[in-house]
Amino acid sequence: MSNQFIYIQQTDSTNLYIKSINEGGTLPEKSVVYTDFQTAGRGQKGNSWESENGKNLLFSMVLYPEFVAVHEQFILSQITSLALFRILSLYLKNISIKWPNDIYSENKKICGMLIENNIGEAGITQSVLGIGMNVNQEHFAGNAPNPVSMHQITGESYDRLELLNRIVEQISLLYEECKIDKERIIREYKNNLYRKSGFYLYEDCLGNVFKAQIEDIEASGMLVLKTEDGDIRRFAFKEVIFR
Ligand code: BTN
Repeated sequence: MSNQFIYIQQTDSTNLYIKSINEGGTLPEKSVVYTDFQTAGRGQKGNSWESENGKNLLFSMVLYPEFVAVHEQFILSQITSLALFRILSLYLKNISIKWPNDIYSENKKICGMLIENNIGEAGITQSVLGIGMNVNQEHFAGNAPNPVSMHQITGESYDRLELLNRIVEQISLLYEECKIDKERIIREYKNNLYRKSGFYLYEDCLGNVFKAQIEDIEASGMLVLKTEDGDIRRFAFKEVIFR
């Protein structure tokens, strides 16, 4: 079945909008809302998401992944990250996935996602995948630490609808694959991580800076780091900063 695409010229946030029109859960699975401008675009950690009118990709997709157990919900981040990684890699070199789910071009963030799950007795009843990808924006004025757009990297302009279609198709593909085999997806996610190998600086909640390498990402989404002394340290999202 083909995806349903809903375009709205402007909204507060596509995540909020898709949830507001889907209170009864009547939207077909994989429906997508996309917009040119958000007046209250939301990022992770309560941040806002900067995006100039008509320049970037801003969309949300709804899934009903009841087969995903609550403790395995990180697979939805992995699917989405991988879809974005694969498509961006068709256009740009040196794309990677920064744990847990940012997409980086070298050391800069080109794409972020805000995934909001509803939890039921058996599993995830609804997942809203909210994606912001920097496509044609030339300057970033806000206080995001390291944004970059496709245009800034190559000097080219890109067709946002073409990108949207490709990404949605890729998410759908990986979503169907994940119903059969999660392990291959997890392997591909880990293989394409930012700082996949080698020692780098990290900072914990207490402000301690230490050198470590990525040892693993657990099914729960926890990041496992191995320090230079061989100690294993586990972190949830927001508990560690990549320095
Ligand atoms: C992040 O902080 O990295 C997450 C950014 C997610 C932004 C997207 S834009 C479309 C969707 N609607 C929102 O309000 N947020 C997400």
